[in-house]
Amino acid sequence: MKFFVDTANLQEIKECQALGILDGVTTNPSLMAKVGITGKDAIFAHYKAICDIVDDNVSAEVLGTTYEDMVREGEELAEIDAKIVVKIPMTKDGVRAIKYFSDKGIRTNCTLIFSAGQAILAAKAGASYVSPFIGRLDDVGADGMELIEQLVDIFGNYGFETEILAASVRHTMHLLQCAEVGADVVTCPSNVIMGLLNHPLTDKGLATFMEDAKKLNL
Ligand code: E4P
Repeated sequence: MKFFVDTANLQEIKECQALGILDGVTTNPSLMAKVGITGKDAIFAHYKAICDIVDDNVSAEVLGTTYEDMVREGEELAEIDAKIVVKIPMTKDGVRAIKYFSDKGIRTNCTLIFSAGQAILAAKAGASYVSPFIGRLDDVGADGMELIEQLVDIFGNYGFETEILAASVRHTMHLLQCAEVGADVVTCPSNVIMGLLNHPLTDKGLATFMEDAKKLNL
C-alpha cells in the first residue's frame, strides 16, 4: 500500500519523507492556496520544490476545464519534473485529456471521483490513478468506504492497471479501513499518517522500560 501526503506544505512533506514511508504527494488548488502560493512561476517552482523532496508521484492539478486547456496545462506541468502526475478532474473533457496523456505515456490522477461509473471511465481512458473522495461522500451521508470496496472488486474483475488512490481520508480509521479493503494508495494529511504512531500502551510500556533500564547500571 502506498502512502501519499495530501498537502502543499513543504515542512509537512519533509517530515513524512524523513519518516521513510512516503510514496508521494497530492496537491489541489485549495491546498496550494492554503500555503499562499500565487502566480504561475511561483506555483511551478513550488511543485519543483516538492519533487526535490520526495522520490516520486507528485500530483499537480490542471486549472483549466476544457480539453484544450487541460492538455496545454498538463503538458507544461509534466515538464517540471518526471515525478509529476497530472491531476485531472472527472469531466467529459477530463476523460478525453486522460486518454491523450495516457497515449503519450504521461501519468494522470483522475480527481473528484464519487461513483464507480466515473472510476471505470477514467480507468478505461488510461488513468494511472483514480481518486475516490471518501470523506466528502461521508459528509453528505453516503458511505465513502463502500465506494472503495466496490472499486477494488471491479478493478480486480478486469485487471485494470489503474491504481485506486483513496482520497479525502480524514482520520486513521479511514486509512485502516482502506488497507483492509485493499486500496492501492491512500492520500491524507500528515497528522493522519503520524496518528498511526500513537498508542497509550506504547507510551506507558516505554516509560516502564526506561524506568527499569536505570536499574541495569549500563
Ligand atoms: C485528493 O487528491 C484531494 O486533494 C483531497 O484528498 C481532498 O480532501 P478533502 O475532502 O479533505 O479536502
